[in-house]
Amino acid sequence: MGENNNELDILKESAKEEISNAQNEQDLNNLKANYLGKKSRLSEIMASMRELSIEKKKELGQKANEFRTKIEEFVENKRQELLEKLIDAKLKNDAIDVTMPAKKFKTGKLNPLTQTIRELEDVCTGMGFMVEEGPEVEEDLYNFELLNLPKGHPAREMQDSFYIDENTLLRTHTSPVQARTLLKSKGQPIKIICPGKVYRRDNDDATHSHQFMQCEGLVVGENVTMADLKGTLVKICSHVFGSDLRVRFRPSFFPFTEPSVEVDVECFKCHGDGCNLCKGSGWIELLGGGMVHPNVLKMCGYDSEKYQGFAFGIGIERLTMMKYGIDDVRNFYIDDERFINQF
Ligand code: DAH
Repeated sequence: MGENNNELDILKESAKEEISNAQNEQDLNNLKANYLGKKSRLSEIMASMRELSIEKKKELGQKANEFRTKIEEFVENKRQELLEKLIDAKLKNDAIDVTMPAKKFKTGKLNPLTQTIRELEDVCTGMGFMVEEGPEVEEDLYNFELLNLPKGHPAREMQDSFYIDENTLLRTHTSPVQARTLLKSKGQPIKIICPGKVYRRDNDDATHSHQFMQCEGLVVGENVTMADLKGTLVKICSHVFGSDLRVRFRPSFFPFTEPSVEVDVECFKCHGDGCNLCKGSGWIELLGGGMVHPNVLKMCGYDSEKYQGFAFGIGIERLTMMKYGIDDVRNFYIDDERFINQF
């Protein structure tokens, strides 16, 4: 009997050791079954109790109970320990490290054409211009007729166009906004710019696109002169190119202005000395303009004796290509980050 008692003590020690070494739940369950289950040594010892005296039975029974309780305690403690380890590991792996640098948000850049338009709006609104808009699907009336380009006028051909029906087309320039604003303003002074898309049936190549952008300018009032046009353009060009630049007029023809001018700006790269950008001339051809034709003023309800106006039309692509030395207009439209991020 004393043997059994002793054996349980020894078993308890080895159980303690083995249980403390268990690696997982499975190990624990196996160990528990080995020490307390039907086929355990404990079970055998209990079975042999039948042959013992009542006293010894009692003594051994007590010992066996203690043994069982102890083993269960070891197992439960170990189970708890394993569980805590598991939770610790999980927390460690899932933890959010608040000291990690945040993921950078990739912010896009504005297309250089948009940047140019914003620069124009910026300098012009600073001089008191309002920014107007007009429809891209335009009536022949505004696109041509009211701009002194009656049906059959040869100048219409230069803007060979996308027609929707006989009297509707994709606007070929932003000039129809002149007519719309004149009609809307009912004889009052005007000072507007209108940036926007225009369309022409062109063969697309490095310098032509069937869709491009312009910015129209129109100033109407009393005593408005060519000098005002020049001063305004000097201001605009100096702002866009970032240094004080001269502007020169060459005679030209547009049906909606009289006189009409082609406007050159001093080359911002060589300031007139001649370089590869201005092809040696010292000047860059930039835009068209002139004094609003009295016919346009009259057709739109203005007293052309009392009021004069100047107008201009700038090609946004050309201006931007000049400014940044871009050689292919198609780059603006292909949405390539590598291109856009340079500006
Ligand atoms: N509308 C002209 C074009 O697209 C550009 C232009 C020239 C606009 C002279 C004007 C102007 O307002 O006065 O070719």
